[in-house]
Amino acid sequence: MKKAVCTFLAGVFLLPAAACARPVEPDLSDYASGMAEIPVEILGELDEETLADLVEEPKYVALTFDDGPREDTTTRLLDGLLERGAAATFFVIGQQVPGNEGLIRRMKAEGHQVGNHTYSHVRLITADMDTVVEEVHKAEALLTEAAGEGSFWLRPPYGRIGAERAELIHTPMIYWSVDPQDWKLLNKDKVVAAVLDAVRPGDIILLHDFYSTSVDAALEIVDRLQKDGYDFVTVEELFRIQGVEPQAGVLYARPDRTRSLD
Ligand code: NI
Repeated sequence: MKKAVCTFLAGVFLLPAAACARPVEPDLSDYASGMAEIPVEILGELDEETLADLVEEPKYVALTFDDGPREDTTTRLLDGLLERGAAATFFVIGQQVPGNEGLIRRMKAEGHQVGNHTYSHVRLITADMDTVVEEVHKAEALLTEAAGEGSFWLRPPYGRIGAERAELIHTPMIYWSVDPQDWKLLNKDKVVAAVLDAVRPGDIILLHDFYSTSVDAALEIVDRLQKDGYDFVTVEELFRIQGVEPQAGVLYARPDRTRSLD
């Protein structure tokens, strides 16, 4: 029913207003998520591309950014992610939070996950036990002040912490499963190629929002993979989607793969 006609009838016959708001398009979300079989009579009417979208399993991937925030590059990245409807996870260095609290708040407000990358990017595996606790807590306090209460998952700098020190950590820890070495390449095209070459559904991709070339690469990766049917979610969402309950003090390369601590 056309909305204007419906609204008119609603006035005359006192139809509930909600009846007019009903979408005209059929809701195919159950089919898209594989919850229902597609009836033959609908299948016949769909073009091939739509059909492929409905039949294919949904593909999820998590972009993660370390070593920020940095005002210019992180702002440009957030703008680009917002434009594309892509979520990401930011493992933030605590000492870079003062002065950038607005960026941290923006990350949260725009559906990204904020994580902890220690206060001063120390090598946790060789730091003494007190330093490990201090580095994690100091960053956590700054993040809580900027973003509000929450669980700030840890990405140990250089991806290493050691079994003994991991026992001090009261959140899950996140490694990665795709590392294009963006900090070394500093070249958009090479970083994009390295990620597209390696990526599989469920991957956690390591990038650094500290570098302008990495921001360019990340946005192109989103464009290319979205065209290929991927959805960009936070690390936390990736665990939830895969039905994995992450454990404190465990280092994950992906929700379905842990990494040895030593
Ligand atoms: Ni780092």
